[in-house]
Amino acid sequence: MRSLVLFDLHYQHNNPISKTKLDKVAGIEGDFDSLILGGDNAELSTGLQNHRVLFERLRRRFECPIAFVLGNHELWGKLGNVSSWRLIYDIFPELGKEYGFTYLESENLDVESSSFVGTYGHFDYSFLRHDRGVSIEDLLRGTFIVERKKITWKDKINMDWEGKRDGDVCVELVDKFSERIKMASGKPISFSHTIPRLTLNGWPDSPSQYFMEAYSGSNLIGDVLQTSGGEYHFCGHTHARANDKIGKTIVVNVGSDYNLLRYVILDREGETTKLEEREIVIN
Ligand SMILES: [Fe+2]
Ligand SMILES: [Fe+2]
Repeated sequence: MRSLVLFDLHYQHNNPISKTKLDKVAGIEGDFDSLILGGDNAELSTGLQNHRVLFERLRRRFECPIAFVLGNHELWGKLGNVSSWRLIYDIFPELGKEYGFTYLESENLDVESSSFVGTYGHFDYSFLRHDRGVSIEDLLRGTFIVERKKITWKDKINMDWEGKRDGDVCVELVDKFSERIKMASGKPISFSHTIPRLTLNGWPDSPSQYFMEAYSGSNLIGDVLQTSGGEYHFCGHTHARANDKIGKTIVVNVGSDYNLLRYVILDREGETTKLEEREIVIN
């Protein structure tokens, strides 16, 4: 079974770099038995136009089953006057149905002997390093001063969890992910948009990173992998490549960025799995 794993495409129909990137994706050679989109797949747009163009093109190019989770950029409900809950539980599941894509936040995708299991993940500040000058108040506000410049974490402005705290959002999503991984009928291969341990962040330490890394994921995801993880877990979100092992699970942050298409080809033949990482610079 050959699978293609893509993260952080951030597709935007009117952006030339984005268009070139989609051409490169469509040009990836070979046949696949599954394609997984790991979130921040396209930027939110009126009528989900960016997503529609992306999904249409992928559907035409790849005949295999396609599954997806969302990323934080796809949950910026305030831009369109909808809550992030409606996006994650109503709007995107509907879009998935329309295109025949499996929405991994609701159900697993089973292909041959493998079950693809996934979640957006979210963040809960469990990565905050308390001795690095960033406070929980900074994180809840979403702003931080570095060298007299104010940096802002846009999720805090644009997401709307209808009054629920980030920690509670994370518990809800990760608990369901945990159930799906335990109930998987095949050998699980799992995905989270945000990262399961701080070791998967991929960026060197810096004052701005001490702020941003706290939004990069949650140890709750890592705890699920520790107890119930399969052979591989893939994440993205930080746009920096990293890898680690959690329990018996090999974890890879695919590390795709706006100008850099990074992707993974997973080849599972009986008991052996081969993983190939490739990258294409977009200019
Ligand atoms: Fe991203
Ligand atoms: Fe992201």
